[in-house]
Amino acid sequence: MKQDLLTFADWSPEDMKALLSLAVTIKNSPAEYASALAGKSVVALFEKPSLRTRVSFDIGINKLGGHMVYLDSQAGKLAGREDAVDVAANLACWADAIVARVFSHETLVQFSQAASVPVINALCDKYHPCQALADYLTLYERFGKVEGLTLAYVGDGNNVTHSLLIVGALLGCNQVVVTPAGHEADGDIIAKAQSIAAQTGATIVVSQSMKDAKGADVIYTDTWLSMGDDTPLAAIKDTFAPYQVNESLMAETGASYVMHCQPAHRDLEITGSLIDSDASLLMQQAENRMHGQNAILTHLLSS
Ligand code: CP
Ligand code: NVA
Repeated sequence: MKQDLLTFADWSPEDMKALLSLAVTIKNSPAEYASALAGKSVVALFEKPSLRTRVSFDIGINKLGGHMVYLDSQAGKLAGREDAVDVAANLACWADAIVARVFSHETLVQFSQAASVPVINALCDKYHPCQALADYLTLYERFGKVEGLTLAYVGDGNNVTHSLLIVGALLGCNQVVVTPAGHEADGDIIAKAQSIAAQTGATIVVSQSMKDAKGADVIYTDTWLSMGDDTPLAAIKDTFAPYQVNESLMAETGASYVMHCQPAHRDLEITGSLIDSDASLLMQQAENRMHGQNAILTHLLSS
């Protein structure tokens, strides 16, 4: 029975911790995993642009002894020339796994149903699970644990927020999500994260006030406008400006570190000087994309 990775929402806390542990092991002992994907081919298909995800999958798969084929959306959406289910069924004829970045989560669900091989979500409108794994790996490296830490997410409630909520809840990380009115995270996903958190002992606070970020160990932010959102910046800039992550917020909250999945927009959601400061974990997060994904690939393709 093949296993996909679309959200992590159906994973147990134990399995999530084991995957994080596998990522640490692979990062620390690369030679032992140099043949983990020997003879395997992975198709990575992107409906949206990417720097980190595309390159970290390609180089990571190569380090595991496998081979990646990159497909862009060629002319608009993936399903333009034929149905998504037919694309997925064809790809599964040759590939051992399909990595996909899509506009709609529904496309991933269709891929999952049509493909006989594992499907990995490389970002959709609702989730970015590979990002969240890399982010908690980064926190684990910095603090020696994830359980009991507090991460405050500040900004737009989006795909990255949702995956941080789910994966953080599974790992026992307390979370504060601070968003402007009208830009909240998805209520169903918050509820799911809260039900997971009730099992792991984590707390999840949802707020519109920056004051609630006080006491967090780390502040996390992301773009105010995600890919596929055509809202002009001018239309939302004033709403989001009070939610900028900057040196004052770091001082007020007492947070040790700042995180951002990137691409970052300097002096919009985060000050450029903070990105360049000693508090910044951005490049460690980027590096860990590859190690987290290599754990996901090793897990899905060897089970
Ligand atoms: N963080 C992230 O997913 O970056 P890319 O969009 O460049 O892949
Ligand atoms: N929320 C952002 C994440 C980019 C990695 C987006 O979807 O564009």
